[in-house]
Amino acid sequence: MSVMTVVGGQWGDEGKGKIVDLLAEKANMVVRFSGGDNAGHTVINPYGEFRLHLIPSGIFYPQVTCIIGNGVAINPEVLLGEIDVLHQHGVSTDRLFISDRAHLIMPYHTLLDGLEEEGRSERALGTTRKGIGPVFADKAARLGIRVGDLLNPETFRRRLEAALAFKNTILTRVYELPPLSLDDTLAQYLRYGEQLAPRIKDTVSTIREAVDRGDSVLLEGAQGALLDPDFGTYPFVTSSSPLAGASCVGAGLGPREIDHVMGVFKAYNTRVGAGPMPTELDDETGNLIREKAGEYGATTGRPRRCGWFDAVAGRFSVQINGLSEIALTHLDIYDGFPSIMICTAYKFQEEVLTSFPGDPATLEKCSPIYEEVAGWEEPINEIQDYESLPAEARDYMSRLESLLSCPVSLVSVGPDRKQIIPIEAVGRCC
Ligand code: GDP
Ligand code: IMO
Ligand code: MG
Repeated sequence: MSVMTVVGGQWGDEGKGKIVDLLAEKANMVVRFSGGDNAGHTVINPYGEFRLHLIPSGIFYPQVTCIIGNGVAINPEVLLGEIDVLHQHGVSTDRLFISDRAHLIMPYHTLLDGLEEEGRSERALGTTRKGIGPVFADKAARLGIRVGDLLNPETFRRRLEAALAFKNTILTRVYELPPLSLDDTLAQYLRYGEQLAPRIKDTVSTIREAVDRGDSVLLEGAQGALLDPDFGTYPFVTSSSPLAGASCVGAGLGPREIDHVMGVFKAYNTRVGAGPMPTELDDETGNLIREKAGEYGATTGRPRRCGWFDAVAGRFSVQINGLSEIALTHLDIYDGFPSIMICTAYKFQEEVLTSFPGDPATLEKCSPIYEEVAGWEEPINEIQDYESLPAEARDYMSRLESLLSCPVSLVSVGPDRKQIIPIEAVGRCC
């Protein structure tokens, strides 16, 4: 039994929900450790098709305790809606708990996220407008309100008063909007608090006990490495760290307690929102990938930008996450492609770059240097074992493994839980 962190290796939407839903079959606990309802994790299993924004993707198994950790920002209305949807599909949420230390997304966070985006006009970041930037800014500025505060109406009122004094000044003076009402917001949130109260607890000790018992614990990431505020394409990033390192902080564990770190990567690249993406294909091939894979955001419905696999960015992601293995998804989308490109380096002015630049202005000017590999004809979405994959598909995976210096241990060949091929990772590469 062990602790495994599962993170997005690219710009999000790699298929983390599907992979965690699969791995959770053998787990005792799944903990979401970062982000908020900007995440949209698609899970397709015998209960139906779900887009989970806050609830861990292990919720479908009765033996799994699901925890929304302290590192997550929670919009209680979204959470309660998600719980309802699960109940409508006969999924129990009796074992869902929420950290008392998680921050709350308040109405002014979502409002300001939208207003700030509009203020940026053509420099807009393309945020999901779920209040993520503003809530994590307040957390750092020590103006946040936490889930635990819902249990104490007096504390909650005091904290809300302090926050509204500041937020209403901005809303009225900067944006010339009416102020938010203290009493209405208080009443609304205390109602949420009553509904959520049985689930709110000190989850750090719950997770601690599971680890000490030797339980199998999965730490589920949101977003992807290239959206990290430090290492991503700043400022075109999200506002909490999606990296494996953040799984310790966002759950309350130490680095020595993580045994495996799995990075989920698509067989190609996608990005939703603004910012540089060197391998973006603004052509027929990009459209083909988007339409074939249904590359439209699970949270906002926006079309995702699609392009060839970027191994420069991928290698960087392996390094900053310390990945021990990769789950490669969407390999089926390349069925019928006569050849496939992999970006192995960037051309920047007269230079060849083999490492991911820290400055997005440099990245913006990088053009990809491609290696062409053979594609395959036959559909692979029914294949269940590695040996039955076309040789070209296996070669493609092997090439990615050696470019990224990390072994692939799972290959996903379709959206359903069953469309997965486990691979004996040890000794095949690197
Ligand atoms: P997440 O945010 O990382 O959980 O990913 P999303 O759910 O936002 O986006 C992944 C999309 O790809 C969803 O629509 C999944 O159902 C789908 N998907 C996941 N794995 C595969 C795969 O191997 N092949 C195909 N065709 N679709 C997949
Ligand atoms: P999952 O967990 C893909 C992107 C937004 C925008 C940037 C900042 O489903 O992989 P934010 O609302 O976080 O302030 O937006 O980050 N973004 C995601 N892109 N998948 C996600 O989550 C994302 N969460 C945020 O599109 O570019
Ligand atoms: Mg998603």
